[in-house]
Amino acid sequence: MNSRSKWLLPLMLFGVVFPFPGSSGDGRPQGNEGRSVISTPIVQLHPNARDGQVVMDNGLVRVRLSYPEGEVIGISYNGIDNLLDVKNRPANRGYLDLVWGSTEKDGATDIVHGTRMTVIQQTGDVLELSFLRKWSPGSPRGVAPLNIDKRYVMLRNSSGFYTYAIFEREAGWPEFDLGQARVVFKLNRNKFHYMAVSDKRRRVMPAALDRARGIKLGYPEAVLLNDHSDGGIKGEVDDKYQYSVESQNDKVHGWISQDPSVGFWMITPSYEFRTGGPTKQDLTSHVGPTTLGMFMSDHYGGRDFNTYFTVQESWKKVFGPVMIYLNSATSNANAYDRLWADAKAQMTKEVANWPYNFISSSDFPPSSGRGTVSGQLMIHDRYINTEDFGANFAYVGLALPGNAGSWQTETKGYQFWTRSDENGSFVIKNIRPGVYNLFTWVPGILGDYKYEGNISVKSGSDINMGTLLFNPPRQGPTLWEIGIPDRSAAEFYVPDPNPSLINEVLLNDYGDRFRQYGLWARYAELYPNSDLTYTVGVSNYSKDWFYAHVTKKMDDSTFSPTTWQIKFDLHHVEFRGRYTLQVALASSTEAQIQFRFNNQRTLRRQLTTPTFGWDNAIARHGIHGLYHFYSIDVPGSLLQQGSNTIYVTQPKALGPYQGLMYDYIRLEGPPTDA
Ligand SMILES: *[C@@H]1O[C@H](CO)[C@@H](O)[C@H](O)[C@H]1NC(C)=O
Ligand SMILES: *[C@@H]1O[C@H](CO)[C@@H](O)[C@H](O)[C@H]1NC(C)=O
Ligand SMILES: *[C@@H]1O[C@H](CO)[C@@H](O)[C@H](O)[C@H]1NC(C)=O
Ligand SMILES: *[C@@H]1O[C@H](CO)[C@@H](O)[C@H](O)[C@H]1NC(C)=O
Repeated sequence: MNSRSKWLLPLMLFGVVFPFPGSSGDGRPQGNEGRSVISTPIVQLHPNARDGQVVMDNGLVRVRLSYPEGEVIGISYNGIDNLLDVKNRPANRGYLDLVWGSTEKDGATDIVHGTRMTVIQQTGDVLELSFLRKWSPGSPRGVAPLNIDKRYVMLRNSSGFYTYAIFEREAGWPEFDLGQARVVFKLNRNKFHYMAVSDKRRRVMPAALDRARGIKLGYPEAVLLNDHSDGGIKGEVDDKYQYSVESQNDKVHGWISQDPSVGFWMITPSYEFRTGGPTKQDLTSHVGPTTLGMFMSDHYGGRDFNTYFTVQESWKKVFGPVMIYLNSATSNANAYDRLWADAKAQMTKEVANWPYNFISSSDFPPSSGRGTVSGQLMIHDRYINTEDFGANFAYVGLALPGNAGSWQTETKGYQFWTRSDENGSFVIKNIRPGVYNLFTWVPGILGDYKYEGNISVKSGSDINMGTLLFNPPRQGPTLWEIGIPDRSAAEFYVPDPNPSLINEVLLNDYGDRFRQYGLWARYAELYPNSDLTYTVGVSNYSKDWFYAHVTKKMDDSTFSPTTWQIKFDLHHVEFRGRYTLQVALASSTEAQIQFRFNNQRTLRRQLTTPTFGWDNAIARHGIHGLYHFYSIDVPGSLLQQGSNTIYVTQPKALGPYQGLMYDYIRLEGPPTDA
């Protein structure tokens, strides 16, 4: 009964005979009585020839899928015939799409339509369907050179369904670049008005029509709402990037309908298949009403997230599963709060249930087919502590082999991350078999660590790495520092938004202030005649260091580069000594950085980088994009007894979103004797 038998759906039998086990039609378990006391309906598969659909039905939820394309065209739940947007074409309601390019094609969107449906598993407790699209040299030009197997899984007595996708390519297929892959659900526009992506970012949202009537701001995603109708939202900004979340926190988001009270949620129990590690940010839900399950994208990294496949490259990866969870409340009282709380509770259950054991693909190993890596990370920095000390809540992860820090732009493999305890001890569980490098970084500590040597995880492995010693970048004692080395600019000065450009939901004290629109432009208002000057010992970085090193708009509407100054006193200088300026950046968008010591005009710069970074975190309200680190040698001869000034220039100024965010800056004196 529970064998994972494969049933090929016989299309010609639609509406005539239906040969699947346990599908007797009335939704009650039949022929199962002796086996089970469960009284919930079994999961059934109904063909519907007339409409070219198949239906997955467990008595709680009915999911209608186009046949054989495998788009989700209808979700019936709690008396609502379709939670999806019936005003959209059926193929434009619930689908998987890609953005890809090649030397011949650039940035094309490819909506993945299956061409063959297979019943992978049907036991009454589990129904799993596959909708496969195979690539061949004769495929249309718009089809990315990948085989894509879209899967849908429904469980008995489960309020929702699961979806995942297996991407595969063979050596010899055309080269190409995969920019984005996601599942998209467009919800019933007449019902879903309230959106939740975190405890604080929850609100009644504008409608798509409100956006259409609004005033376009600096780029198409940002609109100033201007709705004069009763109850319409007026005078607020909407921008989908204000609802971005880091992968490590993006476990549940979605929408709530008020009448009746129904929630639609995207639950992502693990980000093992997401690209770029725990701090990668991506879109969640946004006005539409739309809910996304992002599998991969280049958001907040740009071309550094390049996922390019050469002709020789073969590849296979499973994205997901994610769960589409539905819930309902019998009364409207506090329905928003209750449904959000229940969605979070369900997310916790799904996380505890990961990796799922009901997925039939052999490409998705269950827990028993995975391994564990543990150890303890110690830090050696004699200028902080004469003894080695345990890393405090370190991020520890496994990703494809690469240089230290390479995980943040790694896009082809799986990543498995955890946080250590306060003493650096860590256990990473449920690692898929494979060859990895172990990477860590530690909030409060500069730099990246990589364990030298590959780690080969096999099914059932339990690898204890023992003690790992991280020597973070350090040449000498700290003379002064600005910020906290945590890969974010959140501790710096984040201005209030322009009062005419507010999103009310971000006016909270929970760290979302930096997501307001237009903060970059406040720099010119704060520093109209001169640029930022920071005086060590007098200034306070949370008030006096602007969160982004931005350009300045001039009267003629061109943009001007800016040079910031760091002033500090040295009582004594070793003129033959070697000082070090450690500079960690939280973001860069088509920027350069140049340092000059005590002479703004000198051509002799201590560091000038090429143009780097495409993470676009300034425009997209990220408080960080990708991390960059520079260690700059400063000969003592450049410094002087008494007051010193470092001039920091970002010379590129084509527009308002170009610039840098700092993470942390530290000046170190010459090494002292141990
Ligand atoms: C069905 O699911 C609900 C909610 O998870 C649970 O409370 C109930 O016990 C389940 N019923 C059966 C018969 O398993
Ligand atoms: C960390 O080490 C301290 C000192 O040995 C100990 O008191 C504490 O319980 C340890 N923390 C954990 C989570 O094991
Ligand atoms: C580690 O693994 C990578 C990728 O599998 C491989 O290219 C590299 O040679 C390996 N390094 C060592 C030291 O085995
Ligand atoms: C810096 O400013 C912040 C915000 O006003 C304040 O909380 C903090 O105490 C100040 N730090 C110092 C050292 O004065």
